[in-house]
Amino acid sequence: MSTVDRPTVTVETLRRMKAAGERITCLTAYDASFARVLDEAGVDVLLVGDSLGMLIGGHATTVPVTMDEMVYHGRAVARGCRRALLLVDMPFMSYATPEQALRNAARLMQEGGAQAVKLEGGRTQAETVRQLAARGIPVCAHLGLQPQSVHKLGGYRVQGRAPEAARAMLEDARTLEAAGADLMVLECVPSALAREITAALAIPVIGIGAGPGCDGQVLVLYDALGITPGRVPRFARNFLTDGRDVRGAVQAYVEAVRTGTFPSPEHELA
Ligand code: KIV
Repeated sequence: MSTVDRPTVTVETLRRMKAAGERITCLTAYDASFARVLDEAGVDVLLVGDSLGMLIGGHATTVPVTMDEMVYHGRAVARGCRRALLLVDMPFMSYATPEQALRNAARLMQEGGAQAVKLEGGRTQAETVRQLAARGIPVCAHLGLQPQSVHKLGGYRVQGRAPEAARAMLEDARTLEAAGADLMVLECVPSALAREITAALAIPVIGIGAGPGCDGQVLVLYDALGITPGRVPRFARNFLTDGRDVRGAVQAYVEAVRTGTFPSPEHELA
């Protein structure tokens, strides 16, 4: 079946993929042209990540990203997206209360083309997730390293190494699933913990720097193409090598995730 013949991806599709043991592929996208390339390569989820603040805007963190920016880039990506699920990040302080989250998630869906929204945080976000889910808004939770909290964390570090932190993350994951989250991203988490959380949840878990035991993988597109300025995370891999063009690199990423050759042991964080 060619990519264009494949059915549109929904959160239900992703749940079925988890149940069938099919790995889910996800890449960030910030504009219509790249969205089209990713979509045609069969990437299952396009994430309009607030990483755009760093990669498009040149900021040092994701903290300055605004709702207007997420709406603008969401709408652009939506124009290039035919098959993939379009997941859009809620930016810093756009979901500080459930009421604010409802208002801003609605905006991301109505104006920004989002089919699901992603928000960072553990059990403190459970009520917000519950209220979004109750109104038919698919939610992706985000645990592990939460870049919007970088100033509180003091840096971009692996999360959940200590036994009590690992236990708390597993409990957060269960709480968010029970609150109605449809998906979960785990960022910079030891592989063993990510595997345990993935096995404990019925919803799909997509890892970044979380080892091969998750239901799927996400990479920042610019890391996968080797064009991120400055320090590249250890868990990333440049697929724009061996004479490939951009389409070839994206296809290689999709293939590597589906066959389980990415992430390999050198991309794992202990
Ligand atoms: O903003 C982003 O790109 C993300 C990924 C790192 C998961 O949230």
